[in-house]
Amino acid sequence: MTIYNSGERDHMNRVGRSSRKPNQQLSPNATLITKKPTSLSFSPMASELSFQQSLPAAEKSPGAVWSIPDMLSAETSAYVPDDAAEPASELRDVVPRPEDRMALPVMSETVQSAPVIVETVQSAPVIVEAMPSASMQKRSTAGGMTDSAGHPIPNDTSSLTVGVDGKILLEDLHFIDKLSHFDRERIPERVVHAKGTGALGTFVAYEGMQRYTSADFLREKGRETPVLVRFSTVIGGRSSADTVRDPRGFATKFYTNEGIYDIVGNDLPVFFIRDGIKFPDVIHSLKPSPENNLRDPQRFWDFVSLSPEATHMITWLYSDRGTVKDYRNVDGFGVNTYVWVNRDSVRHFVKYHWKTMQGVETIDRFEAEQLAGSDPDIAVRHLFEAIKNGDYPKYELCVQLMSEEEAEKLSFDPLDDTKTWMEDKFPLMKVGMMTLNKNPKNFFAQIEQAAFCPANIVPGVELSADKMLQGRSFAYHDTQRHRIGVNFTQLPVNRPLSPPLNNQRDGAMTFAFNPSPINYSPNSLADNQPAPSDIPVPKPEYASGYIGRFVIPDTDDFTQAGERYRSLSDLDQKHLCDNIAVELWKCRQDIVNRVMGYFEKADRGFAQGVMRDMEKYRKM
Ligand code: HEM
Repeated sequence: MTIYNSGERDHMNRVGRSSRKPNQQLSPNATLITKKPTSLSFSPMASELSFQQSLPAAEKSPGAVWSIPDMLSAETSAYVPDDAAEPASELRDVVPRPEDRMALPVMSETVQSAPVIVETVQSAPVIVEAMPSASMQKRSTAGGMTDSAGHPIPNDTSSLTVGVDGKILLEDLHFIDKLSHFDRERIPERVVHAKGTGALGTFVAYEGMQRYTSADFLREKGRETPVLVRFSTVIGGRSSADTVRDPRGFATKFYTNEGIYDIVGNDLPVFFIRDGIKFPDVIHSLKPSPENNLRDPQRFWDFVSLSPEATHMITWLYSDRGTVKDYRNVDGFGVNTYVWVNRDSVRHFVKYHWKTMQGVETIDRFEAEQLAGSDPDIAVRHLFEAIKNGDYPKYELCVQLMSEEEAEKLSFDPLDDTKTWMEDKFPLMKVGMMTLNKNPKNFFAQIEQAAFCPANIVPGVELSADKMLQGRSFAYHDTQRHRIGVNFTQLPVNRPLSPPLNNQRDGAMTFAFNPSPINYSPNSLADNQPAPSDIPVPKPEYASGYIGRFVIPDTDDFTQAGERYRSLSDLDQKHLCDNIAVELWKCRQDIVNRVMGYFEKADRGFAQGVMRDMEKYRKM
C-alpha cells in the first residue's frame, strides 16, 4: 500500500480515501512516501468538481438517453408505435418521445427521460419493459453520465486509487464495469463471411406476383418493403482485405408483414459443392491450415481435385469475377433453388437474381493484390460513402421460374447448385427494385449482430429439396444461437415487423416477453390463446423414398463449366487460366493431374491454357 504521510492536500485523501491519519504508525508492508509528488497535477475533476460541471455549456447535452438506435429506415418504424408520442399507459414511463432519442449516452445536466430506453412493438403481446418505473429512476439519478446500473459517474477519466500513485481499489465499480464490458465487446465472428458491411433500404415490387406466389410482399405493384443488405467476403477473418479472390456474400433481409424473408446469396451463380455435408470440408480447405494458420492453395486444390462438381465454380471464381473492389458493382444470386407456391397450391421452382444497376465491375488479380495492401477496406468504404453522399445503389430483383414438368425434362438436375438454368429457356422475370439509401448508425448493433438464414421464408415460398439448401436451413440459426445468443431474434435488427406470439419463454438476455402466464397450448385458461394462425396452407406435397446417402443421378460436372469458359472473351479466358495456373503449378503432381483432367473434360482449350501458364511459372 502506498500512503502519502504528510502535507497532503485534503482532496488527495478524498481521491485515495485513506483512513490513516498522516502520522499514524505504518505497518511493515506499507510503503512510506515522504516527498510531496510535485510532478503530479491534480485535476479538480477528480474531487471537488464533477466532470459535468467542468464542461462548457455548449457541450452539455439536453438529455441523458441511452437509446437503442433506430435500426431501420422510416418504413420499419413499426418497431416504434405510431403513437409514440402517447405510448400506452403501462409503457408511458419507459418509452421516450422520438425527439428525446439519441444514439449515444452523453453527459448532461438534466435527465429528461428515463436512462433506459426500450422500443416496443405495436399492438404488442410481446412486451419490452424496464423496471422500476422511469419516474423512480429520475429521482435516483443526479444527472449526467451513469454506469450500467444507473449510478452517477462524477469522474470517468481517473481510476479510484489509494493516494495519487497507489493501487486501484477493487471497489471501483465504475472502473470494473467499464473495463469488463470492454473486455467483452466482441462476439465470435461469423465462421464464414466474417468481413462485411451493410446498408438499409427499400424494395419496391414492379408487379403483383400472385400468379406464382402468395407472398404478401409481392402482392401488388408498388408494394414497399424495408430491407437490410449485408455484403461480405467468405473466407477471411473480420479484418481481412476486401479484394482477395473469394465469392462475395449478398444477403438480403426483407421485413415483410408476414415475417422476415431472407435471400442469402452470393455474387456468383453457382457453388463449389452440391451436398451440404461437404460444406465444412470445402471451407476448411480454403481457411488457413490448422498447423500454422497459413492459407495454402494446395489444400484447396487437393479438395477440388477430389470434387469434380467444383469445376463449374472454378470457372467463375478464378475469372476476374472473383476479384471485386466495390459492392455496388456486383450482381447477386440466390444460388439455391426455392419454390414459389400460389393460392391454388401451384408450385414453381424459382432462382433469384439481383442485377446491379451500376453495372458489374471487376478488377484483375494484380490490382486486387495491390489494393489488399494499400486499401484493404475499399469495398466497405465505397458503399458507405456512396450512401452518405446520396448516391444510392440500386439492384433489380429478377427470378427464373420452372415448373415441375419442365424440371423433369432437363438433362441435369435443376436443384443442383453447381448448375445455372439456361436464360433462353427460363428467361429472367423482373420482380422489383431495391434501393440502399441508409447507412447503419451503429455497425455492431445493426450489421455484426444481423442474423440471416435461408430458411427464413414467408408464406408463398418453400424450400426445395436442393441438398445444399436443406443443409443450410439448419446451419444459420444454429450458429447464431452460438454467435449472438438464443434470443438473437429479439435484437431490433432481427426483429420481425409482425410480433412473435407463441409459448416460447426465457433464455439468456430475454427482454421482450409475452406477459401471459399461460405459456402452453392447448389451454382453456387463456381461451387457447395464442391460437394457430388461420393462414391458408398449401396442399401438402407427396414425398416417399428409400432412406440412404445418395449421389444425385445427373451429376454432369463439366458441360456447364465448358460453356462458361467458351462464353468468356479472349482476355477473360487468359485471366482465368493465368489465375488458376499461378496457384496450381505449385501443387503436388497428382493433384495437378486430377484437376487438369476435369478442365480437359470441360474444354480442351481451357486445359491447354492452364497448362501453358503453369509452364510459364515453372520456368520463371
Ligand atoms: C450447407 C452449406 C452451407 C452452410 C452449412 C453454410 C453456413 C453458413 C454459416 C454458418 C454462416 C454464418 C452465419 C452467421 O454467423 O450469421 C453463413 C453465412 C453466409 N452464407 Fe452460408 N453456408 C452454406 C452455403 C452457402 C451458400 C451455397 C451460399 C450462397 C448462396 C451461402 C451464403 C452465405 C452468406 C451470404 C452468408 C453471410 C450472411 C451474412 O451476411 O450474415 N452459404 N453460412
